[in-house]
Amino acid sequence: MNKLLIHGGKPLIGELRAAGAKNAVLPILAATLLADEPITLSNVPHLRDVTTSMELLGRLGAHLSVDERMTIEVDPRAVDKFCAPYDLVKTMRASILVLGPLLARHGYAEVSLPGGCAIGSRPVDQHLYGLRAMGAEIEVEAGYIRARCRGRLRAARLVLDLVTVTGTANLLMAATLAEGTTVIENAAREPEVVDLGECLIAMGADIKGLGTDTLIICGVPRLHATHYRIMPDRIETGTYLVAAAITGGQITIRDTRPGCLDAVLLKLQEAGAHIETGQDWIHLDMQGQRPQAVHLRTAPHPGFPTDMQAQFVALNAVAKGVGTITETVFENRFMHVNELQRMGAVIRLEGNTAISTGVAQLTGAPVMATDLRASAGLILAALVAQGETLVDRIYHIDRGYECIEERLSRLGASVRRVS
Ligand code: UD1
Repeated sequence: MNKLLIHGGKPLIGELRAAGAKNAVLPILAATLLADEPITLSNVPHLRDVTTSMELLGRLGAHLSVDERMTIEVDPRAVDKFCAPYDLVKTMRASILVLGPLLARHGYAEVSLPGGCAIGSRPVDQHLYGLRAMGAEIEVEAGYIRARCRGRLRAARLVLDLVTVTGTANLLMAATLAEGTTVIENAAREPEVVDLGECLIAMGADIKGLGTDTLIICGVPRLHATHYRIMPDRIETGTYLVAAAITGGQITIRDTRPGCLDAVLLKLQEAGAHIETGQDWIHLDMQGQRPQAVHLRTAPHPGFPTDMQAQFVALNAVAKGVGTITETVFENRFMHVNELQRMGAVIRLEGNTAISTGVAQLTGAPVMATDLRASAGLILAALVAQGETLVDRIYHIDRGYECIEERLSRLGASVRRVS
């Protein structure tokens, strides 16, 4: 099993180009199932979740081709199977995203239930509520969701109980081919949902309200070919910004979107970072200083993203002062705290709040990654710790960060993949 061996203590200095966004490309790959012509996607990140999604589309019967720059063409015309099986869904919960498109385009879909995962129970009740309201008959049995509809789905007014990103994406995709005008209230406003919506519009969909909590989708009979460029990954950008901040370094990230990172940039400034932004770049300079502890609460966009929580817990672990971080989006998303404590961090968990008293120096230790963003938090802590840290179960990080050891090494970190 792959591990990362990190020798901490060097400030990260340099420049990076942001990769394409994982959480945008996954729904957009699923959206290709709605079309009756090939879709071409560029700026696709080289990630394990992308490979898993491509395998899933291939198993459904789609034809895929990829060039050396990771431009993917998906031809959905030969799709003749409608099942996302357990062996794929268990490695990537986002497989649930094929449910809406398969149902809307082919009238039938079978998706294994995602089940429990490291960051809480993560139910899919909102996805099912919306599709049922649009006329689907859905049974959940033997670990599978089986959904069917006669003819086209029907438009409906959907009011979601809570803000769900993949739930909104699934219902938005399904509504593009439904008969009539669907309204989704309490929709997710995440930039990746907007990116999905823009891609659907380029395919011929009629969508209004992207980026607001009310989406209005006027169903069309068909969606056509397009070429779409995936937006940059704001969580990857944020993670490298924290890597520079935690090590007292400086970094410029290009081909990114500062406007999607307001809440994160604000907290980095509170931590003492000097930040400049342009239209598609961010420069952060810590001027060799140790960060100040920050207080924050995670929340749906435009609030502070839960996918940046672990990275800021790592930052607070070495910051000056006491910082509190409250997780409101997921239950049980503090698995990294135990591991950080093994590196000498002083963190107390009170319910869904992590209270950290920053220490001047963490110490390298063998640690275990438990999920994607927890792994990122551990790697950041290792970059600033004294001595060697061996991060085990690094396959989690490969789900969401392209060539992480190469990129960190280019910034001056001592990182090596070992087996
Ligand atoms: C997506 C992101 C993930 C991010 C999360 C929150 C992708 C592929 N993944 O995950 O990186 O951490 O948004 O920003 O885009 N919930 C329900 N019922 C539902 C659906 C969700 O109760 O039907 C709950 C979940 O358990 C959770 C909360 O709603 O507590 C938010 O989950 P959701 O936004 O759906 O997360 P994902 O879309 O799975």
